[in-house]
Amino acid sequence: CGIVGIVGARPVSERLVDALKRLEYRGYDSAGVATIHDGQLDRRRAEGKLFNLETKLAGDPLPGLIGIAHTRWATHGAPTENNAHPHFTDGVAVVHNGIIENFSEIKDALIAEGATFSTQTDTEVVAQLLAKLRRDGLDGRQAMQAMLRSVTGAYALAVLFADTPGTILAARSGPPLAVGYGAQEMFLGSDAIALAPFTNEITYLNDGDWAVLTAGGVEILDHDGNSVTRPRQVSIAAAYMVDKGNHRHFMEKEIYEQPEVISHALGHYVDFTENRVSAAASAIDFARIPSLAISACGTAYLAGLIGKYWFERYARLPVEIDVASEFRYRDIPLSPDAAALFISQSGETADTLASLRYCKDLGLTIGAVVNASESTIARSSDAVFPILAGPEIGVASTKAFTCQLAVLAALAVGAGRARGTISIEEERVLVRHLAEMPRIMASVLNAIQPKMESLARELSKCRDVLYLGRGTSFPLAMEGALKLKEISYIHAEGYAAGELKHGPIALIDENMPVIVIAPHDRFFEKTISNMQEVAARGGRIIFITDERGAAASKLETMSTIVLPNVDELIAPMIFSLPIQLLAYHTAVFMGTDVDQPRNLAKSVTVE
Ligand code: G6P
Repeated sequence: CGIVGIVGARPVSERLVDALKRLEYRGYDSAGVATIHDGQLDRRRAEGKLFNLETKLAGDPLPGLIGIAHTRWATHGAPTENNAHPHFTDGVAVVHNGIIENFSEIKDALIAEGATFSTQTDTEVVAQLLAKLRRDGLDGRQAMQAMLRSVTGAYALAVLFADTPGTILAARSGPPLAVGYGAQEMFLGSDAIALAPFTNEITYLNDGDWAVLTAGGVEILDHDGNSVTRPRQVSIAAAYMVDKGNHRHFMEKEIYEQPEVISHALGHYVDFTENRVSAAASAIDFARIPSLAISACGTAYLAGLIGKYWFERYARLPVEIDVASEFRYRDIPLSPDAAALFISQSGETADTLASLRYCKDLGLTIGAVVNASESTIARSSDAVFPILAGPEIGVASTKAFTCQLAVLAALAVGAGRARGTISIEEERVLVRHLAEMPRIMASVLNAIQPKMESLARELSKCRDVLYLGRGTSFPLAMEGALKLKEISYIHAEGYAAGELKHGPIALIDENMPVIVIAPHDRFFEKTISNMQEVAARGGRIIFITDERGAAASKLETMSTIVLPNVDELIAPMIFSLPIQLLAYHTAVFMGTDVDQPRNLAKSVTVE
């Protein structure tokens, strides 16, 4: 899931592993590093965490002034040491992110010619094909170009040839890859965060580009082998400190950062002196579009679902939304006059990017709500709405989710003004509510922490949990369930409270906690009726409400979490805090790997 490479004048293996650590947040299940020394390729690989690889390197150091390294998130073949990258064949070393779609075809052809494969991975096909092309007499560059013409799919690749010990070859089609410039050294990395300790001067390869790196510089070529120039830019990633501070986990740190980052994000979209939405929110002309399409994956999708409620309510703008993996194949009748919004923390999610390209081909105006403002999704969009959350390292999204919500809220209010569906006075009132958010978040985080910890102790004993909500609390219920299963591995479902009686009610007994998210809003009474249905069947209710809601409900609960009364617009951001803390503390009690939960990747660049 992460690639790094260094070609220079100093030993590389330790530095490569340090750079891999900065990519750990993307999720992985094995890792490896290869160098060239004494005219030979050499490598160390290990299953599991980077610590295992470091232990190996400590016992058996790997010299060399050139190297490539990789963290792998298994797609084809189990996460064993043997399947870990770099793959070696006959003087060729390869690391790869993505999927080679026609690998079995190429593999069969190579086997027919006598090749024997030692792993189940699609990546070995690249190494074997390059080795064959070299045996056929092509030099490294020619072999690389011929290989790239044969493979289809998504890939970021880095290649070493034992007989050219001063050169790294790299290629990109799909997953991101950046080149970094040093003094008498060149670097390669999956993102600017990996390259940050080495350099802040980087160039992103475009899709279809490949590159030849030597200690003195880089040559970038297009698919046809023509030299091309790509912009060299100063990355802002180096400016961010990527450490946990006083927190046990990145996730905890990111939860507590929310008041600060939300205030930063809002500052970009809202003019607090006038209490108006600022120009940054109108990079799409919402007045002129007949409808809006939204597509995203995972937590970003759930932020989009909440956004749908807002765009429809405040701007009377019809919204079509789906998870990106469905959206791109659904043949949705979309008007070219419409706009489409793609929400992505990483800006690299393959399904979201494919949906974007699909809408672009149809002629829609493309907007991106992204955290990584240098990402492919950002660079492919007509209008970019950065969420300004800073690097999010915990795999389970927290601050990116609430920042996405804050940006979507500002956009929806701006769209309402542009379409004349809310007055200036109403805009001012809503913006004032947004402005209160950071302060309220800080006080809520402070107030509820001990209670969430003791509640988490109870939850950690459960096998299943049901989350319920209505209105914007319904997507939030799904996000609560997603957070819990992602990091604690407790099975959880998020349901529209009104749907309870149509199925999930059958699950309810005294062992099943039901977490109800119900601020005292337009739907409150209805949700209370649904809670009664749970209580009547002996279900244990954890009630997340506000002061008015707590006063109005007479129901007996296992626990009631009382938040301040807030406006309906900002309730989803405020009510996100207890569900995040509940998932976090439950996972801590369960002893799971909170920041890097099993099987998950932070940024999924395969379909
Ligand atoms: C992965 C992550 C999720 C995330 C989703 C979308 O599955 O584990 O936390 O919500 O991808 O990622 P994106 O970067 O597009 O927001």
